[in-house]
Amino acid sequence: MTPKKLHEVDRLSRVVFTVAERSHVDTIIDIGAGHGYLTHLVATQNPSRRVVAIDCEDARTCGSKDRGSRILSSVHHQVPAAMLNFGGYHHRLKLDPTWTSKVEYATARLDPATLSETCGGGKGSRYALVGLHSCGDLSGVTMLTTFLECGDVKAVVVVACCYQRITTGSGPNDAAAGIPLSQTVKDLTSHRNPPFTLTHRVLSSAQLTFASFADSTTIISSFKGHYHRSLFELALRRWSTMHPASFDRLGLNEPASFSSGPSFRVGGLPKACTRNFRAYCLAAAGKMGLLVGEDVEQDLGLGRSLDGLILELQEEFPVERMLPRIALMCVLRSVLGPCVEALVLLDRVKYLEEGLGCGPNGEAKGKVWLRNIFENDLSPRNAAIVAEKTDGGQI
Ligand SMILES: C[S@@+](CC[C@H](N)C(=O)[O-])C[C@H]1O[C@@H](n2cnc3c(N)ncnc32)[C@H](O)[C@@H]1O
Repeated sequence: MTPKKLHEVDRLSRVVFTVAERSHVDTIIDIGAGHGYLTHLVATQNPSRRVVAIDCEDARTCGSKDRGSRILSSVHHQVPAAMLNFGGYHHRLKLDPTWTSKVEYATARLDPATLSETCGGGKGSRYALVGLHSCGDLSGVTMLTTFLECGDVKAVVVVACCYQRITTGSGPNDAAAGIPLSQTVKDLTSHRNPPFTLTHRVLSSAQLTFASFADSTTIISSFKGHYHRSLFELALRRWSTMHPASFDRLGLNEPASFSSGPSFRVGGLPKACTRNFRAYCLAAAGKMGLLVGEDVEQDLGLGRSLDGLILELQEEFPVERMLPRIALMCVLRSVLGPCVEALVLLDRVKYLEEGLGCGPNGEAKGKVWLRNIFENDLSPRNAAIVAEKTDGGQI
């Protein structure tokens, strides 16, 4: 576990404990538990409560289960806490040798309709949903709606990440969109024409922090990444006019699909593929299913035309001329990023407050908080949303 993760689980687990006590919760459900870093610490701190780790990826659930049993075996063999070494870092958990794990594991997608079936616990259970760096819609519409809709869920504690994975919509009233969720933000933006939407590109700027540019090596590699990514988008636009059938097959025939939308996601590439534009293009085109292999000669002429385009674009947009522009764009995005993040978080807080009936009139059925709980230098994605239903409160 890295020092960053250790700091995060240490702080967040304390918040989870306080909320679980206050809301008289008997089951803590770690949603998107990953390898269980938060789960296992929460389990050691809440020995009288069931802890359920849910992740939609089976490999993560298996890894988490394995980690849990290694911790348990170390505890039972009374290995001093300082000697525990999980993932390269000495673990600072204060483990009680009498601790027996109450952790249960499930590979599932969070769904309000099947939550009690997935988590068990029986009638009258009191759940808290918790999530550390729950990505995209998971920390938004999915977890928050589950909290509001399921009577058994009494509290939610969530730190978000990967805002660029939030489902974007055609306008403020698109029911499929993960933003805006609250009527307050919908009303603020509904008069705009064309309708206000947060695009994938805008949301990804919320992901940027000044820490993203902490040292010069990171800065240069980030600028080069943007340079490759933008040139590749241009290459795709030109390339698609040469081979429309191959692009139609992938649903990449609309110009808009190159700059946004789920079909255009290159995502992470192996480091070796990012050293120059040609390597990047071949790897990215391969990942998108446009090239079968690195052997461009064998790719029915498609690869050969890409090779020509690569040279053409590198001449037209040389790296020395483009990097200063990219630097300016990155600075602007990192300045605006916190505003976008604030809007996403405000929308979520308002959505919860509206669902709980918080406001000047009427009896609220719960409370909502937004707090920075991690040290910014260690973990800049640090805002936790906490909501608790008033005891016995039904929505
Ligand atoms: C960024 S990781 C965070 C993992 C862990 N909480 C941590 O901090 O180390 C997000 C995790 O959420 C899982 N996930 C994403 N959407 C999910 C969903 N709808 N239901 C359950 N798990 C989900 C992913 O498989 C992934 O393991």
